[in-house]
Amino acid sequence: MQIIVTGGAGFIGSRLVSALEAFDSGHRVVVVDDFSSGDFRNLRHFKGDIISRPCEELDWDQHFGRQEIVSIYHLASITDTTVSNQREMVERNVESFRRILRFSQSRGFPVVYASSAATYGQADGLMKVEQQAAPANVYGFSKMILDNLGEEARELGMRVSGVRYFNVYGPHEAHKGKMASMVFQLYRQMKAGQRPRVFETGQHLRDFVYVDDVVAGTMLAATSEAGIYNIGSGKARSFNDIIAILNECLGTDLEPEYIPNPYIAFYQNHTEADISRSKKKLGYEPQYGLKKGIRAYVDWLSSNDAA
Ligand SMILES: NC(=O)c1ccc[n+]([C@@H]2O[C@H](COP(=O)([O-])OP(=O)(O)OC[C@H]3O[C@@H](n4cnc5c(N)ncnc54)[C@H](O)[C@@H]3O)[C@@H](O)[C@H]2O)c1
Repeated sequence: MQIIVTGGAGFIGSRLVSALEAFDSGHRVVVVDDFSSGDFRNLRHFKGDIISRPCEELDWDQHFGRQEIVSIYHLASITDTTVSNQREMVERNVESFRRILRFSQSRGFPVVYASSAATYGQADGLMKVEQQAAPANVYGFSKMILDNLGEEARELGMRVSGVRYFNVYGPHEAHKGKMASMVFQLYRQMKAGQRPRVFETGQHLRDFVYVDDVVAGTMLAATSEAGIYNIGSGKARSFNDIIAILNECLGTDLEPEYIPNPYIAFYQNHTEADISRSKKKLGYEPQYGLKKGIRAYVDWLSSNDAA
């Protein structure tokens, strides 16, 4: 019996792989990842097999047709939200998912795929799954199409769930460079003794969620009623809050350096996941507030060479 994780060499995917292996269900975990953005170091303790092919090119029937599959977690995606090549973004992200849906159709196992808060676009405030999608970039657009395909699959009776992640931070994200979380970027600056740089006035609010909560929500989605679920902390916090907590953790007293925001016209003031549905239907309960999450992360960073 196999559990398939696409994007398993990436940030969230590799934490999911570790959690699945630690859960010790007796199932074998197989990763599908083309290493377009992932890093083998995230899987240093992995015990399973890897198929290093793009999901949209893999012959799923040939590889997995004779295997018994427990579930597929589909996290593979172009994750650089600044990529502006619309064809590449849509083709890779959407065709990957279409292949997985075709393979899964009539096989009965659950498929959980990573969607994103980017589907909500410029909306400000509390974001509810029921509200109209309005992606502001092609990355968010590609995720909206995944949600549409997921909806169609559910109408055909398939067990397909989308998990809309908010601003995820935590171990195994160093390979993401400029796309790594603000917690990681600010940590790096402050650890080097530099003043942390944020857009003025540092008071914009985001839903920062620790990766282990995201992994827990993702695993719950595989065993719960199929649907779309917000996976965030459920609480918006500011960039200034991150800096204050990092100062505490690092024993520093570095003042933020506020820089002008070139995106001010369309920069969101406040994003926050409404997680009431995820709590009710998945039993999702985030375990990490911002302080606890940053503390756990700083501890991890101090004892790992990834930073
Ligand atoms: N990190 C966040 O804050 C966040 C927020 C919202 C949604 N997400 C979604 O969560 C998922 C995981 O993101 P992440 O932060 O771990 O990013 P990541 O870039 O670390 O991981 C993505 C992984 O997918 C692989 N990959 C990309 N395209 C592929 C393809 N076509 N075929 C096979 N492998 C492919 C990459 O090599 C990489 O290992 C993505 O779907 C992303 O869109 C992440």
